[in-house]
Amino acid sequence: MTVKKALITGITGQDGSYLAELLLEKGYEVHGIIRRASTFNTQRLDHLYQDPHSPRARLFLHYGDLTDGTRLASLLETVQPDEVYHLAAQSHVRVSFDEPEFTGNTTGLGTTRLLEAIRSTGLPCRYYQASSSEMFGATPPPQHENTPFHPRSPYGVAKVYAYWTTRNYREAYGLYAVNGILFNHESPRRGPTFVTRKIATAAARIKAGLQDHLYLGNLDARRDWGYAAEYVHAMWLMLQHDQPDDYVIATGTSCSVRDFADHCFTHVGLDYRDHIRFDERYLRPSEVDHLVGDASKARRILGWQPTIHAPELARLMVDAEMAALPRPVRPADSAPETALTLTAG
Ligand code: NAP
Ligand code: GDD
Repeated sequence: MTVKKALITGITGQDGSYLAELLLEKGYEVHGIIRRASTFNTQRLDHLYQDPHSPRARLFLHYGDLTDGTRLASLLETVQPDEVYHLAAQSHVRVSFDEPEFTGNTTGLGTTRLLEAIRSTGLPCRYYQASSSEMFGATPPPQHENTPFHPRSPYGVAKVYAYWTTRNYREAYGLYAVNGILFNHESPRRGPTFVTRKIATAAARIKAGLQDHLYLGNLDARRDWGYAAEYVHAMWLMLQHDQPDDYVIATGTSCSVRDFADHCFTHVGLDYRDHIRFDERYLRPSEVDHLVGDASKARRILGWQPTIHAPELARLMVDAEMAALPRPVRPADSAPETALTLTAG
């Protein structure tokens, strides 16, 4: 039986790690592109580690960067993937206001480089584009596949560019290319500067007496928050369908940042109002006030449906933070095992 090969950009990120896990479970050979960094950036993948010298190894990492189109093309030639999942991006909205040019270059033009590499190598692979609800921006909810875009950040603008580039390669060159328009999705693996992870970490640390306060910006913004592990399944389903198409992936419910904080702090027996302080540095020059996705097309055509909503998500994230808190060292504790760290190259 031929083993399917997938290439994932952004494999070291939250979604990349869940998707790699899912595809390995499904029997795929998984190749991931990672950036060279001066410190290890593969922590989210450590549990999937396989010695690349073993004949059973099915996870392989390669150095590459969205700013280097030549490298993307040579990797495609080498790996010959059946499916390409393009998840890499400068994904932080607030940071995109500080670094608009870099965000455009990676999140926007990086998509063109990858699609152009696929087109020029002539590979018959299927392509997934990580599009975002941030593209809807100021357009009121509920948002669905035909809702007009009105992005409110350099990140949102770059994602709109990437969305239309993906559609253009589908229409112009017949590429099997899809946009997954995913609403916010979180997990214990979420980057520590996104608001849900920031709140969950702080709730656990405050409960443990390790800190007193948490500084946040706008508490009134409302998001449709789902669970990342369920959302990567939707990505895979999109690439298994007969026809390439675009899909919204969301829970269909929303809550405010304040509500999410309430869920997290209540779970550990605290009142968020006693601990949250305001810091204007976390405000954005233009905000997205309210996102709620209508994922009925994905339910109808792909059979995808989420089971985890914000309250459960908050609890599972806080539980993970509590479990990860540093334990006081006791003489009887045995020495910790050395963490396996993936190396590439
Ligand atoms: P994430 O945790 O921030 O991961 C981003 C990934 O992109 C990381 O692996 C990062 O590598 C990589 N990357 C960044 N710049 C790169 C470059 N120049 N070259 C190569 N790789 C680069 O993001 P995520 O939450 O997993 O999201 C995955 C994708 O979905 C992103 O495109 C994001 O914009 C989009 N999205 C996310 C959500 C959400 O709620 N999570 C919703 C809609 C869309 P390092 O580890 O080295 O930094
Ligand atoms: N990060 C952060 N930090 N956000 C805060 C803070 C804070 O201290 N205080 C309030 N917020 C508010 C933001 O203003 C925003 O309205 C909301 O919390 C969510 O912020 P983030 O968690 O940073 O996520 P995001 O919605 O801006 O962007 C995420 O979701 C998009 C999909 O809609 C990212 O994952 C994007 O990559 C993704 O495309």
